[in-house]
Amino acid sequence: MAVKKKKKRIGILTSGGDCPGLNAAIRGIGKTAILEYGMEIVGIGSGFQGLIDNDVIELDENKLSGILTLGGTILGTSREKPFKKDDESGVKKIELIRKNIKSLGLDCIVCIGGNGTQKTASKLSKEGLNIIGIPKTIDNDVWGTDQTFGFDSAVSIATEALDRLHTTANAHKRIMVLEVMGHKAGWLALHSGIAGGGDVILIPEISYNIEIIARYLKKRISKKKTYSIIVVAEGVLIPPGEIVTSAGYYLSQRITEMTGIETRNTVLGYLQRGGTPSSYDRILATKYGAYATELIAQGDFGKMVSLKNNEITAIPLSEVAGKLKIVTPEDTLVQTARILGTCFGDR
Ligand code: F6P
Repeated sequence: MAVKKKKKRIGILTSGGDCPGLNAAIRGIGKTAILEYGMEIVGIGSGFQGLIDNDVIELDENKLSGILTLGGTILGTSREKPFKKDDESGVKKIELIRKNIKSLGLDCIVCIGGNGTQKTASKLSKEGLNIIGIPKTIDNDVWGTDQTFGFDSAVSIATEALDRLHTTANAHKRIMVLEVMGHKAGWLALHSGIAGGGDVILIPEISYNIEIIARYLKKRISKKKTYSIIVVAEGVLIPPGEIVTSAGYYLSQRITEMTGIETRNTVLGYLQRGGTPSSYDRILATKYGAYATELIAQGDFGKMVSLKNNEITAIPLSEVAGKLKIVTPEDTLVQTARILGTCFGDR
């Protein structure tokens, strides 16, 4: 009698801050796995926390329908880092994870997340588990890929905010500061700043001098430019001793003092992470998801899928872990913006 081959079972988790496109990626993995390879899919709740708590849900084709356009994640997410702190009872979290993966019969875990997630994914892979990573974050700061999904949607949201700030800035002849997210990287500020016509763009990778910014803004007034737009990344440095809640707030205070021009601050915050993914992010997340399943089918584990020169490929998780992809001052976008007269606060 022929022995029935066990179907491959894939576990999927989403970890770290949410972003648009997570559900598109889950769908991409799941539909490829079910329809192309006849595999089984298990969703793990709340990131790595679900692997520790055995919080899982079986995902069939129907459960993957209608989620392509949804923001957030149907699986939930958390910032749990299982290698950071062991269970209160003293049990090693990795042992709980190992036990749960075994009892669920999972052949591989796909970890969808940003830098922290890929670092944990690499550690799990070093522990001998079958892991695939998929890079997501609005920050676009994951090493080893040209772009994370979630970034394009966030850039569009921030650009739309800048378009709206323009009209009020113009009407009131004010300076408008928009603080965007990005953690320690300036990608979001740089891209939305250029798309939204920011006059000043401040990113953590380029140190600014407040005197230079004030001089630049006053010069604009002398050139009959009656309003200005500043885009600032949340990660830019604020001088030590300043008791302020945000970079944008600090800048708007100092600029009012130094220029006498009425200045207002807007912190865009979590609006950048919510809502429907852009078509670009839906496509990128779908491609990443489908490619992740191809890697699983080939048994090619310990990799993160990535985008390189417009091609989907994969890179060892060990090469990604612990690194950050940040903007370099030589970046062509920075150079182009400088030619167009954008001030980065350094010269
Ligand atoms: O990594 C995405 C991100 O939105 C960053 O841009 C931001 O610094 C951080 O997450 C906010 O984290 P939390 O959701 O924990 O407040």
